[in-house]
Amino acid sequence: MPATSGCDEGVDQALVEKAMDVGRIREDFPILGREIGGRQLVYLDNAATTQKPRQVLDTLRTFYETYNGNIHRSPHLLGQEATDLYLQAHQNVARFIGAEDEREIIFVRNSTEGINLVAYSLLSGGSDQMGLAPGDEVLLTVAEHHSNLVPWQMVRDRKGVVLKFLDIDDEGTLDLEELERSLTERTKLVCLAHVSNVLGTVNPVREIGKLAHAAGALLLVDGAQSVPHLPTAVKEMDCDFLAFSGHKMLAPMGIGVLYGKRALLEKMTPMLYGGDMIADVTLDGASWNELPWKFEAGTPNVGGAIALGGATDRHSGRRLEGAVDYLNRLGMDAVRRHELELTARALQGLRAMPGVRVVGPPQAERRCGVVAFQVEKDGAVCDAHLVAQLLNDVGIAVRAGGHCAYPLMRRLGGGGTVRISVYVYNTVSEVDTFLGALGEIITHKLL
Ligand SMILES: Cc1ncc(COP(=O)(O)O)c(C=O)c1O
Repeated sequence: MPATSGCDEGVDQALVEKAMDVGRIREDFPILGREIGGRQLVYLDNAATTQKPRQVLDTLRTFYETYNGNIHRSPHLLGQEATDLYLQAHQNVARFIGAEDEREIIFVRNSTEGINLVAYSLLSGGSDQMGLAPGDEVLLTVAEHHSNLVPWQMVRDRKGVVLKFLDIDDEGTLDLEELERSLTERTKLVCLAHVSNVLGTVNPVREIGKLAHAAGALLLVDGAQSVPHLPTAVKEMDCDFLAFSGHKMLAPMGIGVLYGKRALLEKMTPMLYGGDMIADVTLDGASWNELPWKFEAGTPNVGGAIALGGATDRHSGRRLEGAVDYLNRLGMDAVRRHELELTARALQGLRAMPGVRVVGPPQAERRCGVVAFQVEKDGAVCDAHLVAQLLNDVGIAVRAGGHCAYPLMRRLGGGGTVRISVYVYNTVSEVDTFLGALGEIITHKLL
């Protein structure tokens, strides 16, 4: 890996010492060999979705080539094997986030569906089930992704629940005193992203959980941008719910996770109804299956779940490596350290460029590997899409626009931002390539 001298601002060098072998990691990602317009692809859009390593792609293929059968109650071997592999995927994901057991892991499509599951469940919960009542309060922040905002607006409109929003300061930080002041005896739920997909801020969810619980409220954490990048321990965090997406952590699209504390999930009504989620059905009604199946109606994405969690064929001993295995092998502490190094480099480089305004905390260690910025020229904010397009012309993939966080973009003063976001296979030299290309664009190409 290239040396980091002169670009180590904000990073503890002792932590960086045990660096990951990124060159070796890159060999696992076939897509990184692509060229875009004759240039080597530099993929810096990992907050949108990550690339997939060969091991995970092999698992998906192996599942369909060798084990494909529908799960639960299959009398034949394929169905039994698929059921066992699918259960193991639940168990491995539970271990990865430090959950009590697999009953707390519900496979969904993505973070959005996980949050919707909680919202719909609390919307419909009756007197004997956990639910929200008119006048109850849900506390959010102005920085939420639409996935953790629009479902709650739906609950507000249908149930008469009151939504309250915590503001951020100029560095994209929440004020915990404001949080404390905002909590009332009517607050039933505090919902926020652990890591903002625009500001990159790592929010102090543990402290927020303590305050929420002291006020009698539950804590839902949107982990879409944190679980892939930080060591996660739900028991220490003491969150009641945690939603995250497989595709943002090396797994295929279409598989995600809702973690929920078992005692709560037991008291909640399902969001989807149909096969597999029932214990019994008569023409008059139905009773629900045990956890987690109660919340997994219909045929789930079995192959995707195994590609996320990993599993072992108990008869042959063959390992189907999941994204979680891959990340465990790297070590989430090492992933964090690597991203800190890249983030610090990007922040320092961007800050040195005239007309570039980075949003979010100035220090790398207060962030994950998301860095969004605006470019100003002659007193006006340049079109973020134009900047992204010009970067794309030289093979650099970044995001531009409102990042599914329109209220936050308005709060930041309007106009979209350009966003880079890094992951395990990105290198310091890729960050430098991006900085060099942006410098060129600012100097020579922007009108
Ligand atoms: C903070 C945050 N929450 C939720 C989501 C939604 O994720 P998904 O589209 O996988 O449901 C995203 C996606 O970018 C995100 O960044």
